[in-house]
Amino acid sequence: MGMSKWWKSAVFYQLYPRSFQDSNGDGVGDLQGIISRLDYLSWLGVDALWLSPIHPSPQVDFGYDVSDYCGIDPLFGDKELFLELLDEVHRRGMRLILDGVFNHCSIAHPWFQRAARGEKQEWFHFRSRPNNWTSAFGGSAWSWNREAEKYYLHTFLSEQADLNWSNPEVEEAVLDVLHYWLKLGVDGFRLDVFNCYHKDRSYRDNPTRWSPLALLSRLVYPYLSQHHRYDRDRPELRESLQRMRSVVESYDGVLLGETLDEQFRYDNAAPYALDQQLQLTFNFRLLHSKYSAPDFHQAISSWVHDLGSEGWPTWALSNHDFPRHATRWGIRSPEHQLRRMKQLALLSLTLKGTPCLYYGEELGLKEGKLRRAELQDPVGRRYWPFFQGRDGARTPMPWNERGGFSEEKPWLPYGKGVSDVATQQGEEDSLLCWYRQVLTIRKRHPTLQLGAMSLEAEDPQLLAFERTDDEARFRVVLNLSERPISVHIAGEPLCSSASFSS
Ligand code: NOJ
Repeated sequence: MGMSKWWKSAVFYQLYPRSFQDSNGDGVGDLQGIISRLDYLSWLGVDALWLSPIHPSPQVDFGYDVSDYCGIDPLFGDKELFLELLDEVHRRGMRLILDGVFNHCSIAHPWFQRAARGEKQEWFHFRSRPNNWTSAFGGSAWSWNREAEKYYLHTFLSEQADLNWSNPEVEEAVLDVLHYWLKLGVDGFRLDVFNCYHKDRSYRDNPTRWSPLALLSRLVYPYLSQHHRYDRDRPELRESLQRMRSVVESYDGVLLGETLDEQFRYDNAAPYALDQQLQLTFNFRLLHSKYSAPDFHQAISSWVHDLGSEGWPTWALSNHDFPRHATRWGIRSPEHQLRRMKQLALLSLTLKGTPCLYYGEELGLKEGKLRRAELQDPVGRRYWPFFQGRDGARTPMPWNERGGFSEEKPWLPYGKGVSDVATQQGEEDSLLCWYRQVLTIRKRHPTLQLGAMSLEAEDPQLLAFERTDDEARFRVVLNLSERPISVHIAGEPLCSSASFSS
């Protein structure tokens, strides 16, 4: 048997640095804050941390608009502090990956400023006439730049200019950034919307999508009204990803990529996890699924099927872009809610693949409800009240009864209706203790990390699968209905959502 890669058995934990722990009283989380909470993370039992962007940025899209790929935003700390964080993470046997935002950079980045002046303009997409491409954040994907007297392309906000990956210098620059952080000891990158890197070289118009939803969206959100044939998922991508992979692999690092797909089917992610491209890609079919055994079954089996024997699955139930699953799949009765959250934790931590937890899900944190005046997310501000934006998934981590995230007013209000870390640590039956116990069981049994998986036949109420290897056989059975169902299970149960046995 070959040596198994660490990222296959690891459990990732995504942390939104602005909201994890503030140490200097400005209401925004920072690196010192994260350092002070590392003992919590190792107590919980996660293996790798993914930090949403911490590089210098005007923060228009909260760090997804980078103005210096090799620095640390003073809001979060500095290089020295980052190295201390990295060291402390490694000392606890965990790993750390950064968020690589390479489809676009901030218009405040010197690369863009230089291009606007007419120097190395081919690093971006400057054109004298826009085509019909649309922005995923609304409106046209082209904005006028006065200095250059041309339009430039942005798949997201006009403050986020798309880099021109057809230009080999751009890819070289990105590879240099990868080397830079990997040499310092970073363990890899989550890649933001990597399937958008390459664009059609002759900027052909995207074809119109003819569906009722697409037509309806034309005025409000035109991104849905076209097939994105020419502005993403281009054939050149494959080799770029292979080159990035080989750099990262030479440091034993990982690339975990996120695709953009307005259809919310995310069925474009699997091919990129094959053929020496990315080790891992996200697939959000489960995240977007209805809470039902057949829907979950479908989401899981199709993802596993698409990856075949070569690709390795990842699982995420929540992240910083979508409403938290405690709300999405929430149920009124607190007792049922707790049971549901426990089953979901068990699901994501025992399916074959790499789970990626989102900070606060271990507490059952719900989507925060914000007033119009409290909104921070530019997308929420633009589309309110039709879409409230993503702030609700980014509220501060509640550490204790007083909050404990910051001495001052936090940049977003705390969410409501869920108890804090300290309280849950003191209650054996809490969701937090459950996460910790399932993580411990997972760590103790390599079968649950790397064993084969077979999904049992679809059932209206139950979702069941087995994990097996030469050493052991586990059967996971989830009851997704609200009624008790009796199931015959051979052998001793290791845990059930009511109790654990050791
Ligand atoms: C996807 C990220 O997850 C999201 O938060 C961000 O706004 C866009 N990419 C643009 O970078």
